[in-house]
Amino acid sequence: MNRDAWASYVNAFHHRYPGITQDVLRLARNHAGLTPYGWIAAELPPVGLVVDLACGAGPLAELVGSSRWLGLNISAAEVGRARDEGVRGVVRADVRAVPLASASVDTLVCSMALMVAPVADVFRESARLLRPGGCLIATTPTWRGQGWADLRRTWTLWRAWGDRPQFASRSRESARWATYYGMEVASDLVDRFDLPLDRDSAQLLADSLYAPRSTDESRRRLVDGLLTLPDGNFSLVLRRQRWVVAPLRTSRGPTP
Ligand SMILES: C[S@@+](CC[C@H](N)C(=O)[O-])C[C@H]1O[C@@H](n2cnc3c(N)ncnc32)[C@H](O)[C@@H]1O
Repeated sequence: MNRDAWASYVNAFHHRYPGITQDVLRLARNHAGLTPYGWIAAELPPVGLVVDLACGAGPLAELVGSSRWLGLNISAAEVGRARDEGVRGVVRADVRAVPLASASVDTLVCSMALMVAPVADVFRESARLLRPGGCLIATTPTWRGQGWADLRRTWTLWRAWGDRPQFASRSRESARWATYYGMEVASDLVDRFDLPLDRDSAQLLADSLYAPRSTDESRRRLVDGLLTLPDGNFSLVLRRQRWVVAPLRTSRGPTP
């Protein structure tokens, strides 16, 4: 799928299911009882403006505090759900051209969107927007840290489904674009979030996955597969990275 077709698919997906990512992730907890959003909030500095790139329906707003949170999203449906739920500070905007001044932001967040949005633009805009000493904190799904049993279980599910989640880019592309725009990783952690499964949460999880070829029938097979998992949980394994602008960067390398 080319970039424009992918962007149209993602837009139509969120039009159909506004806020579905937060509906799923708010059900999942790590060993410390944090949701994936609480895990991001735990990494944020206590003061300064936080700009949430591709913010969905704004699940981080209440955790950061609306006085210092600004969320940007391209989808009218996602922004509409946020506003319907009283989230303040959410603006319809494209991460390819963020309508904010250069060096004006203390912290950028990108929750579960680096692999969906145009990643080169996210890093170009991040390097432009951040004040000296600022950082970008991003979460993405990952295979890292998963043992054979986890991987086998996931492959079995995808086989029953006859499909698998699709993304616009992989983590190594993030790493290359980050380097190109003069950013480097300051911390990199993986954690596991257990999502308790019943028919409703399994359906929500199945519906929340980007899978352009999937049908209602194939998703039903995925739901049935999820409901047969032995411990009644689905483990979401997420990676949280914090990027900072590299201090002595003077010139760019070749375009990735
Ligand atoms: C998986 S959702 C994550 C939403 C939210 N950050 C969360 O964690 O709940 C990905 C989001 O990226 C947004 N998105 C995709 N491309 C974008 C772009 N070019 N500019 C702004 N938002 C974009 C989608 O509209 C969607 O809300």
